[in-house]
This record gives sequence, C-alpha cells and structure tokens, in this order.
Amino acid sequence: MASTNTTGYRRGLVDLGKGQISREIFVNDEIYQEELERIFARAWLLVGHESQIPNPGDFFVSSMGEESVILCRDRAHKVHVFLNSCRHRGMKVCRYDEGNAAVLTCPYHGWSYSTDGRLVGVPYFREAYHGSLDRSRWGLAEVAQLCLYKGTVWASWDPAAPPFLEYLGDFLPYIDLTLDAWDGSDGGTEILSGIQKWRVPCNWKFPAENFSGDSYHNISHRSVDLAGIGPSGSGRRDMPELLMARKLHIAFPEHGHQTTSYLLPKEVALPPAYQHSSVVSEYFRECEEARRNKRGDWGRMIALVGEVFPNTAFLARQPRTLAAWHPRGAHETEVWRWFLVDRNAPAEVKDFLRQYYIRYSGPGGMTEQDDMENWNYAHAASRGTIARRYPYNYEQGTGTEIENYEWESFRVPGVVCDLTRAKSSEHNLRNLYRRWAEFMEADRWEELTSGRRLGRAEAAE
Ligand code: FES
Ligand SMILES: [Fe+2]
Repeated sequence: MASTNTTGYRRGLVDLGKGQISREIFVNDEIYQEELERIFARAWLLVGHESQIPNPGDFFVSSMGEESVILCRDRAHKVHVFLNSCRHRGMKVCRYDEGNAAVLTCPYHGWSYSTDGRLVGVPYFREAYHGSLDRSRWGLAEVAQLCLYKGTVWASWDPAAPPFLEYLGDFLPYIDLTLDAWDGSDGGTEILSGIQKWRVPCNWKFPAENFSGDSYHNISHRSVDLAGIGPSGSGRRDMPELLMARKLHIAFPEHGHQTTSYLLPKEVALPPAYQHSSVVSEYFRECEEARRNKRGDWGRMIALVGEVFPNTAFLARQPRTLAAWHPRGAHETEVWRWFLVDRNAPAEVKDFLRQYYIRYSGPGGMTEQDDMENWNYAHAASRGTIARRYPYNYEQGTGTEIENYEWESFRVPGVVCDLTRAKSSEHNLRNLYRRWAEFMEADRWEELTSGRRLGRAEAAE
C-alpha cells in the first residue's frame, strides 16, 4: 500500500461527498497500527465503573486500546489508572481480572508498587543496586488525564486532550440518560453481576458504527422480534409509547459522538405496566413519573443507543449497558459489556433486569448474536484482494440533516435527522467516520478542536 500519511490519500478513504468509505480502513493492518497511535493513544476511553472498586486497594484490570491497564483505588480513596506493565522489564504486573491488594507485586523479579503507583519494594535494593536506584523515578506509568463522571471512569494518555467534559460537549445530557437513575436523579448506578467479555472476529469499527445508530438493520433482528424477548413477551423491548415519539439520529460533528434517541410528545400517557410482578411494574411506573417531573423536556428524551468517540457505546433503556470495543488487531474486537442498574432499586427489580439484559445483550444475548453474525461475516467478506477494491456505501439520507431541530418546544442539541418519515439514515455513521478521518489526519489537538470540518465541499476536492 502507498503511504497513508498524505492528506489527499486519507480523504480518498473517507469520501463524505460521495458517501463512500474504503474497505481499507477496516482491513488494512498499517492503518490499524496508525489508529492505535492517533486515536487510542489520544482520545478519552472508558476504563470502568467506580462500583467495581469501592474500597481502598480494590483493583480492576481494564484495557485502553490494546494495552492492559490497572484501575485501582489507593489507600486515600483516590482512583488511578496505571499501565499494567512493570517498569523493570515490562512484565504484566497484575494478572488477575480484579481483586484487592495492599501492594501490586510484579511476579517476574518482585518489584512492588503501592496502590498509588509508587515503586515501594525492590528485592536486594541495597546489595544489588548499591543504593543507586532512584525509586521515585520508576513508579507505574499513569494516564495523563482521568475523569470520574457519575460512576464511570474515563482516561486519556494525552495531556493535550481537552478535559473530558469538554470532549463530550453538548453530548453530555445524552449519556446522562444512561448514567442517571431511572427516576431522573443524578448518577446512582452500579454494575450488575460483573461484566461480560468476549471476542468477535471483526474490526472494532463495525460495532462502533452499529451502536452509533444503524437503524437500517432491523431485518437482522426479525427472529428475535418474533420470539418476543421483551419484558412483556413481545418484540425486543417494551416501549409502546415510542410509537408516538419522534425517532431521531443526533450527531455532534465537532466531537464525533452520536445517538439514536426518541423524543416523546409533551403530553403522553405513562406506559402500561410491565407484565411482571407488582414490585417491578410499580417501580418503573413511579420512576417514569418522577423522571418526567424532575427533568422536564429531557424527561421526554429516551436514548436508545449511542457512541462516544471512538469506542464506547451506551444503551440507555432496555437493556441499560455500557460497552467498550477494544481493538485486538485489525481483524478482531474484544467486547466488554457493563450492565447498569440503579443502586437503590429493589432486589426483585435488579433480578428482573438481569434476566432481561442477558436475554438481549452479551455473547448469549439473542439480539447481540444477530449483530455479531453480521459483523463477523461482513469483515471476512471484505478482506479479499478483490473485495477491497469496492468501497462501502454510506450515502443514505445525505443532505437531510437539520441544524436547529425543534419539536414541541424542545430544541434538540446536535445535528438531527428526523426518521419519522425517512425511517433510516446514515447521518450518524458519516459523523463517526468524519471524526475518524480528522483524528487520523490531525497531528495536534488544536487541529481537532479548531472546528474545521471535513465537509462535503472539502471531500469533493
Ligand atoms: S519485570 Fe517486574 S520486577 Fe522485573
Ligand atoms: Fe442490532
């Protein structure tokens, strides 16, 4: 392949003017290596949830890009994220998935690190190093920036990246729809029953684009709809009130985040109770009412799916989860899925949600199985010498985006495609790849935050 560094070549790969994207960005190993540098070493990435490390000394081994990191809480309750690689010879310091430790001791030669990352133990320190080793310089490598937001933990390796809240910008209230409690109170979620991890033989961008809002693939879930895995035994989800809502694709061109959300009319009856125990149906009914009262217009907004650039997805309702698409080479993705519930929900509600969540999502979830089959076969069928010559088509709904979308006195933040009549668009997907191309081209954060867009005019040059 020719050099991928020239701007012109890069623009040729993601051609927003034509709505075409080269298969190379999914299957080319050189481009993948560059993604690790330009995207995963710079962007904000989801690392975990504070409820996974409630006590001093608790740790959870996570991942940023391909690299293992340790999320841990030190003795003073401060949260850290360290590279899981010993400073002596690179051994993976922590080989457990999670646990509690007073110190983190490297299994190779025994260097020990405190939970705040300092190198505190060196075997034969006096004898072998003759007192010359400056331990203060050899602590665990720590991320440049860390942000705790409503229970979630985010990190970036890049000191020049904008602060996390700036990185999210006006997209923040959409992710709040997943991170706030069901009754509209701030935060208050916890992880249910650990997390699920599994691998899918496809490029990480297949799931990233799907969760950005691929409303076009409902045909794939036809069998699940027929089987009726929803809480009341019909369809995939129980949200009959959505029939009255506006279905919107909402994208943030300056950030690369996007969501598929529903906006309910101002006056809408509370949904019928879940066909389940009275504890469960009453809980959801009360929460629904409280949320609408507390949140006003935002109480009318229901985020179905969304994606924080580059590789974090969220589902706000049914089920309520966070996912990280960890790249494992150009041709494999390790999916991690966190399932969220309200910490204060009754045990019966948590159990009801647990059963529904695993029916829907994860490697055994019926809906996610459909998706994975598509990504798996699409990736494999795109790798061939001949297949790579043919770009994918992303032109659906080009030119139908609305900058200042308003419905029933709610001005919706973001650039919107209203699917009420159109049914589907690839507006959000184009937004994801526009930002992808910007990250791959920009050498400095100033270029990424300057507001310069790879628009249609430029792409057509
Ligand atoms: S590699 Fe960790 S102590 Fe040597
Ligand atoms: Fe799907």
